[in-house]
Amino acid sequence: MCISNKIGPPVEGEDFFGREKEIRKANRLLDSNHSLLLSAPRRIGKSSLAKRLIEEKKQQGWKCVYIDLEETTTEEGFLRLVIEAFKKNGIWKQLTEGMSKGLVSVLDRIEKVTIGGVVDFNIGKREEQEDLYKNLKELIKHDEDTFIVVDELTLFLGILNKSENGAEKVAFILNWLRSLRQVSKTNVRWLFCGSVGLRNFTTAMNLGFTINDLMEFGLGELTREEAEGLLSGLCKSEDMEMSEELINYTLDKLHWNIPYFIQVIFSKLAEEYEDEVTKESIDIAYNKLCSENYLSTWSERLSEYREYEVPARQILKALSTQSAGLEREAMLNILMTGQDASKVEEVDYILSKVLEMLENDGYILKVDSIRTFRSPLLRDYWFNKFVQ
Ligand SMILES: Nc1ncnc2c1ncn2[C@@H]1O[C@H](COP(=O)(O)OP(=O)(O)OP(=O)(O)O)[C@@H](O)[C@H]1O
Ligand SMILES: [Mg+2]
Repeated sequence: MCISNKIGPPVEGEDFFGREKEIRKANRLLDSNHSLLLSAPRRIGKSSLAKRLIEEKKQQGWKCVYIDLEETTTEEGFLRLVIEAFKKNGIWKQLTEGMSKGLVSVLDRIEKVTIGGVVDFNIGKREEQEDLYKNLKELIKHDEDTFIVVDELTLFLGILNKSENGAEKVAFILNWLRSLRQVSKTNVRWLFCGSVGLRNFTTAMNLGFTINDLMEFGLGELTREEAEGLLSGLCKSEDMEMSEELINYTLDKLHWNIPYFIQVIFSKLAEEYEDEVTKESIDIAYNKLCSENYLSTWSERLSEYREYEVPARQILKALSTQSAGLEREAMLNILMTGQDASKVEEVDYILSKVLEMLENDGYILKVDSIRTFRSPLLRDYWFNKFVQ
């Protein structure tokens, strides 16, 4: 078996390439009882790394759980996902003699949820809600080595925040998750994945303390060696010849060597492959990527910026026309177009927020005082799609 070309979903097993240093580091932290916050730009391989860590921890006999909060938008949905995932992986305690009535009743509801029954959690009623979460906390087996990955937490909390009493619900969940990590001598370790936003998000809501026990874990582009290894591994899997020079030509062209970009350009090369790869065919593959929809996730996900989506788009559009980048002043002028001069402070603040979000999510890069697209591929795509 060898690596195969996968574009889109997290990669697992043989398809997962590299990241050895990051895995070693994460293992060290988890083994010494830390919980982690994996904050990194879009499509950089967060979920794949989390799943790989789960595979490793399972082999060491840990109980592991993967919860993808992209699948839900409500508190009820959140509870169901957690309850089902914990049940499936044996995280809940068994019914024992002498258990309090409250715990027995929650265990009963857990059983019903996992067989698809209709269960009312009464989460609308404050006291019952507090009781429920308290009981759930007590029902977790804290003495066994356990690793729980919660993917896309910020995305979920952002949506929940916009619902009725959203801020309260968000605070409640973050505090509850924190309290689970604070249980004395707990052997449960957590990994929260998502774009860097979770820190910004909690700070903006004065909830920074709810995640300040998490160890920050970054994930960047592949090292040059890993990038070469991934591209040549993909070539081998399809019996394609590609010289070292051409591999380097491709990686230089991509510039920002995240595994997703390597996988998508490879798929284009493979589609057109006859009997050799040339610089010309690499250029053609690159240009195809700029005109097709492989990179559309970067545009679609801007909807998560909500009130900042429009200014973010204005900035990205302007940056896509300027490969040398733009100064802040120029970007402020763009956002001020058609606005009353008295709004300049307000617009300047919006610009700060937008730039921070775009940097965190890996769209743009700041060098000295100049902002540019982080990836020429993304810049050329943007230009093609939204300007030309
Ligand atoms: N270690 C890896 N080896 C090979 N390909 C990878 C690896 N990591 C990521 N990829 C490529 O990147 C794609 C996206 O990976 P993944 O879903 O893990 O990223 P993500 O950071 O979780 O993305 P998102 O921000 O959309 O949640 C995969 O479909 C695959 O093409
Ligand atoms: Mg992901």
